[in-house]
Amino acid sequence: MTLGKFITFEGIDGAGKSTHIAFVADLLKERGKSVVMTREPGGTPLGEKLRELLLHEKMHLETEALLMFAARREHLAQVIEPALARGDWVISDRFTDASFAYQGGGRKLDFDKLEALEKWVHPKLQPDLTLLFDVPLDVARARLDATRALDKFEQEKADFFAATRDAYLRRAAQYSQRFRVIDSTMPMEAVRDVVRGIVCDL
Ligand code: TMP
Repeated sequence: MTLGKFITFEGIDGAGKSTHIAFVADLLKERGKSVVMTREPGGTPLGEKLRELLLHEKMHLETEALLMFAARREHLAQVIEPALARGDWVISDRFTDASFAYQGGGRKLDFDKLEALEKWVHPKLQPDLTLLFDVPLDVARARLDATRALDKFEQEKADFFAATRDAYLRRAAQYSQRFRVIDSTMPMEAVRDVVRGIVCDL
């Protein structure tokens, strides 16, 4: 039984999702909710160790997918499921949709294998709301290049991100009830207004 709600933030690297996470947490707290903010890969001590490997070590694409889901299994057991059972609201910077987008779309891992892992690791749970921050590739690249040293995923080429974005949009169409696609090319204040409207409707 889950009492709280589960909100996930998604988008290709450079889409600008991370700037809005603290804003949503504050909005919910103002409305009296108890909020847990977390991220994937990561969210637990073991998950953060796996994150280091995933973001910096070269590995077979199936190893990468399995480690993403191993970190997720731990994250669900240690953080997400207990929080939802307590009635907290969980905000996660990425979840399983990222595996479909990056490992499925970007790396071209068979979607059937990802679906099998999804069924294994969280057969019943899905986010109540997924905010997909969508931008064209050139905008995302420009935002990334302006920041810091790039990790393994961020160093991928344009066709990888085109396939990743496409897989995200297909997933959003498939699960249109829980997804909201946000045009993240708008000025930050305008994106914020859209996000506020969506979250206040929950
Ligand atoms: P972040 O930069 O948004 O923290 O995400 C870390 C990277 O991990 C990002 O490039 C996307 C990637 N990733 C996957 O490839 N598969 C997944 O399942 C998750 C959660 C993240």
